[in-house]
Amino acid sequence: MLGMQALFEGMAVAVFDCLGRAARNPLRVDILRCVKVDEARHTAVGVLPMRRVVQEASEEERAGLEDFDFEILATLNANQNLDMLRVSGSRYGIDPDTIVQVALSLPEWPELNNKIFMHTAVLNLSRLELITERTEGLYRQRGIIYGDRFGHAIDPDVAAAF
Ligand SMILES: [Fe+2]
Repeated sequence: MLGMQALFEGMAVAVFDCLGRAARNPLRVDILRCVKVDEARHTAVGVLPMRRVVQEASEEERAGLEDFDFEILATLNANQNLDMLRVSGSRYGIDPDTIVQVALSLPEWPELNNKIFMHTAVLNLSRLELITERTEGLYRQRGIIYGDRFGHAIDPDVAAAF
């Protein structure tokens, strides 16, 4: 429930929101918004019952959930960059590993990278209080969290799903 609904469905909301914002065809915009609304419901279905699970968890169990979330998002973050470059890099004669090393060393990397994660998945974890001082710095190091993690406006379709 935590991995699928809170994290992956949360990432799906962000992806469909990005695709919808980039779309120009009105029908495509409508379809992508409908899919985003559906994904927002999926994430709420998981996050709402997880509140009780987290509240009833022991300190050790809660720390285990927090570590699990971090490992999932950190792995997704690492893989999405490299996999995308491996698929299209050879077409343009670029070395994926070099490009990733350069991107990760950019001081602007966290600002460029965080949006897809902070759109809904990080918000879900914040709602569940599964990001503490112990892991927040690790998320920031990897460019998954940037700026004020509570300062972003909640997507209205996500807010409506809760
Ligand atoms: Fe879904």
